[in-house]
Amino acid sequence: MTLSRRVASPRVVCIEDLRPLARRRLPTAVFNYLDGGAEGEVTLRENCRAFEDLCFRPRHAVSFPACDLRTRILGFDLSVPFLLAPVGYSRLMNPAGEVAAARAAGLAGTAYILSTISGHRLEDVKAATSGPVFYQLYLMGGRPAAEDVIQRAKAAGFSALVVTIDTPLAGMRERDYRNGMKELISGGLWEKLPFLSQVLKRPGWLINFLQDGGLRPLPNVRVPGKGPMPLVDINAALASAAITWADLRWIRELWRGPLVVKGVLTGDDARRAVDEGAAAISVSNHGGRQLDCVSASVRALPEVVAAVKGQVEVWMDGGIRRGTDVVKAICLGARAVLCGRAYAYGLAAAGEAGVSRAIEILRADLERTLHLLGCPSLTKLDRSYVNVPASWQVT
Ligand SMILES: Cc1cc2nc3c(=O)[nH]c(=O)nc-3n(C[C@H](O)[C@H](O)[C@H](O)COP(=O)(O)O)c2cc1C
Repeated sequence: MTLSRRVASPRVVCIEDLRPLARRRLPTAVFNYLDGGAEGEVTLRENCRAFEDLCFRPRHAVSFPACDLRTRILGFDLSVPFLLAPVGYSRLMNPAGEVAAARAAGLAGTAYILSTISGHRLEDVKAATSGPVFYQLYLMGGRPAAEDVIQRAKAAGFSALVVTIDTPLAGMRERDYRNGMKELISGGLWEKLPFLSQVLKRPGWLINFLQDGGLRPLPNVRVPGKGPMPLVDINAALASAAITWADLRWIRELWRGPLVVKGVLTGDDARRAVDEGAAAISVSNHGGRQLDCVSASVRALPEVVAAVKGQVEVWMDGGIRRGTDVVKAICLGARAVLCGRAYAYGLAAAGEAGVSRAIEILRADLERTLHLLGCPSLTKLDRSYVNVPASWQVT
């Protein structure tokens, strides 16, 4: 079966249909790395569930030929109001990983954010897409590695730097421990042994992985004099990579282009990000992968929107699985949303064709939702289109 047929309708009619296909393709550890969250996964679940607390208020008996789905972020016109979030280790999900995702984003008229934890060189990712690309920065490898990658991203034509501030260390992702993610990525043969059967059960994935050269170092994390950082346990790598507001100032000086702060959940941090020169903020809890039991992103959105008073663009991510989720976030004041797992399930299921299918599903959802809502354009969405629970109101 061709890859695009694997994810075609009627096998796949919504994003949730891509998830079991991803599960069937990936070894248990890799699927659960993608699918899982931190600790009890309360925030992971709540990110999706909280959208159910918002009810639409449609305007009926109106008619218009087409809906305008375009939005503008950081001066770029996007054909849809969602972009692809940084997803580390995408090359483990499919050998074309970040290159495939970026290409699919560009073809769909949207932007791609490349994670620091990328298996492909940032120059190759930029060359693969016709859309804007932004670089997500962790301080793995310290300031010297960051200086190197910032200069490379500038030279390659990346348009914004996305600084993730919610990762002073990696969250406790219990599924990764149970399934041997650390051992499979960085252990010796002896440590890998108890977990190898799950890999052997996925021969399709294994052949692709071996043909791709197996585990590769991180080509965009180069400590001067040492070369690319070996693919290591993410926990160890991130534990020495905490970003502070002082680092942000230093990063801004080096970068001098638009800076996005990702991982804001409170009005206080939002105002701080504005004061530090952010051009945009992404309200995010890292898809429920960091501190568990924080607010769902959409629940935190009204506080952040109120705090920044229109001074910067507000984006959000976490739990986007349907076009209705995107519309609700925009009604609450988001300029755009990032999708993480929604496209990564597609990538794991069928490479670039799977990412394109995920984008297509969300785009069709959006078009249908706006029609049913009686709203011809995304720019016309506001709070009058949703009932917001009283407890969500910001005073
Ligand atoms: C497998 C996986 C890896 C991720 N890696 C990164 C990363 O390297 N950097 C980052 O800022 N966020 C990372 N994120 C978080 C996403 O950028 C985004 O915030 C999150 O996926 C949004 O939630 P959603 O998956 O429900 O859409 C990752 C998320 C997943 C699922």
